[in-house]
Amino acid sequence: MYPWQDYSGRLSPLKLAVFIALFLPGLWTAIAFGMGWLQPRPFTEAIHQVGLWMLRFLFIALAITPLRHIVQWPRLILVRRMIGVAAFAYGLAHISLFVADLKFDLAKAATEIALRIYLTIGFVALLGLASLAATSTDAMVGRLGARRWQRMHRLIYVIALLAVVHYCMQSKLDLWEPTIIAGIYAWLMGYRLLVKFVGVRGRLPLAWVGALSLAAAALTALGEAAYFWIALGVDPTRVLSANWSLIAGWRPAAIVLGLGLTVTAIGTGRAVGPLIVKRLPRFA
Ligand code: HEM
Repeated sequence: MYPWQDYSGRLSPLKLAVFIALFLPGLWTAIAFGMGWLQPRPFTEAIHQVGLWMLRFLFIALAITPLRHIVQWPRLILVRRMIGVAAFAYGLAHISLFVADLKFDLAKAATEIALRIYLTIGFVALLGLASLAATSTDAMVGRLGARRWQRMHRLIYVIALLAVVHYCMQSKLDLWEPTIIAGIYAWLMGYRLLVKFVGVRGRLPLAWVGALSLAAAALTALGEAAYFWIALGVDPTRVLSANWSLIAGWRPAAIVLGLGLTVTAIGTGRAVGPLIVKRLPRFA
């Protein structure tokens, strides 16, 4: 079966579109690298680009389960494995660029990974992702059994957390996007936790999805304020109040809230839309 075919062997436009899209950031980075557009530090810039896309793909893969339930698009599951494997492939490119930047001095690369904690954390995350990629084939699911496979693949929650920590630690001062990613992580994990306690047939009722979005945004704002307070001594009330104005641009909490409420609104539209259409008078 080709990556663009569904289980019945037919061409799936969704799978084909996602398959092509997954190559584009890597292709762009390779072209930009080759053309010298990533100067003055092409390797560092390429490591950043590829690392960012790896993290984005990891999070998109994690978002598939909630999204397919909320927006009632079950076929989204068809592209989850592909996106997860792409995240791992970008991870291989990320670490290869790191080694290439050290002129393929493997001893130096190993020492750096052992001594710099953010690299150690990234490396452990990549090893974890390798184990999930290796067991992602249908044959491996069959061999492990669905239950054991599912239990093993819960490792992705820890891997994603390590990836967020690696990202935050290397970002030093500019924590805008890392904070958003951390907020989305809170939303994604919160979703799974809530499904366990208040889920209905494995799904979270929409009112809870809205409440979760508010809670994840509040947590993002508090996390951001706590970081600036602990690391830089900035008064947390000043950071928190920046969330109510646009002078400092869109704050991470606002972005997390916007994303959460957009998903909730689409889910509501999908749930309520058919009911309204049914009640509309029919004109023959
Ligand atoms: C799941 C595993 C990993 C993920 C998701 C990940 C992701 C990222 C992200 C998002 C960035 C920052 C990009 C930016 O700020 O624009 C980054 C930077 C970086 N990562 Fe990773 N990474 C992972 C594993 C690794 C590994 C195994 C290594 C090498 C051993 C590594 C080495 C680096 C380096 C050197 C940087 C740039 C740091 C700097 O410029 O100071 N990463 N990574």
